[in-house]
Amino acid sequence: MLNTVETHTANDPFVDAERIKLIDEIIDNGKSVPGGLMVVLNELQSKIGFISEPMQRYVAQKMGIPMSTVHGVVSFYSFFTTTPRGKHTIKFCMGTACYVGGIELLIEKANQILGVRPGQTTPDGNITLEICRCVGACSQAPVVVVDDEISGHVKPNKFPQIIRPIQSKEE
Ligand code: FES
Repeated sequence: MLNTVETHTANDPFVDAERIKLIDEIIDNGKSVPGGLMVVLNELQSKIGFISEPMQRYVAQKMGIPMSTVHGVVSFYSFFTTTPRGKHTIKFCMGTACYVGGIELLIEKANQILGVRPGQTTPDGNITLEICRCVGACSQAPVVVVDDEISGHVKPNKFPQIIRPIQSKEE
């Protein structure tokens, strides 16, 4: 069942006729090519910015595949998000060196400061937290990537300093 509160938010593409047209075009173009589901989901993520549950259901229905398949793909790849991404992104490297180096303590610190966890965006839409794979800077573990800038050897007490430039005044 569609959740009406979830469906009719300002960020929901189904309240905007232009966006519905775009979603239909993406599905129509991708549904007959090999690996069509992945093509469609990639296009939705890059052009709409997220793939909400109602959108997943719509894709499943239009492509004639089970919702569980669509949902499985969206949840498996961290590249896909179910809510809009924030203006800024903080990525936490979950590669082995960073994991052993204490990346989880930094995720905890981020949660204390921003009130969100990886996969979530601050309520003001400013910052999205994500996890990522090794970014090739293992010797500097643990590594955090703020927008495109890599910071290494990050300690929890230094984390606030690293994110200060992208924080909005209310955070
Ligand atoms: S494991 Fe984090 S940069 Fe390689």
